[in-house]
Amino acid sequence: MKHLIAPSVLSADFANLQRDIEMINSSEADWFHVDVMDGVFAPNISFGFPVMEAIKRHAKKPLDVHLMIVNPDQYIERFAAAGADVITVHYEACTHLHRTIQAIHAAGCKAGVALNPHTPVALLKDILTDLDMVLIMSVNPGFGGQQFIPNSLRKISLLRSMATHVNPDLKIEVDGGIGIHNAGQLLEAGADVLVAGNAIFGAASPTEMIAELKQVSGG
Ligand code: DX5
Ligand code: ZN
Repeated sequence: MKHLIAPSVLSADFANLQRDIEMINSSEADWFHVDVMDGVFAPNISFGFPVMEAIKRHAKKPLDVHLMIVNPDQYIERFAAAGADVITVHYEACTHLHRTIQAIHAAGCKAGVALNPHTPVALLKDILTDLDMVLIMSVNPGFGGQQFIPNSLRKISLLRSMATHVNPDLKIEVDGGIGIHNAGQLLEAGADVLVAGNAIFGAASPTEMIAELKQVSGG
């Protein structure tokens, strides 16, 4: 299947959010990537339910919600009610990850687990069959516009080979520092979903940048 492009709303113009949502609606993008940060797990505060609900009212594509928060269990049902289609929690924020994944599925959403740059993919071995997606963070959580960490490529390849037999449908998403310069390598390594914030919203034509990212091939 062709890879998916998930523009990160964090880089949108929040004073013109509806305009930027319509841009994504009418582009070749596949998902809305929605970054929620609590100022505790991540060293930044982004936005919460009212903004997410406003995005949902206009978005015509699935919401891919990336929770960079401690205690995500406490809020799974509210994120599902606010319109999340995919909910991704951080491995580093979950003491009972298996229970959290079950709660996401029980709320009717697809479940993902995100790994910080220092967290080895091997730690997911015993939960891989329960997941719909793994998000490889290719920057440290907190901000758009950071530089891509090259070791992420090795993590993607390793994860892809780990998943081949046990969960061939597993989606591998990559997030942070992605643009036209490294999209091909990421797809070649085994990524299926590319998140991009700065590369899209900082481009002269965001719509064209989305189309270019969609056209990249993994060789
Ligand atoms: C970082 C967020 C990313 C961020 C990506 O904590 O999870 O989704 O918005 O932004 P760029 O593409 O600018 O690195
Ligand atoms: Zn993100």
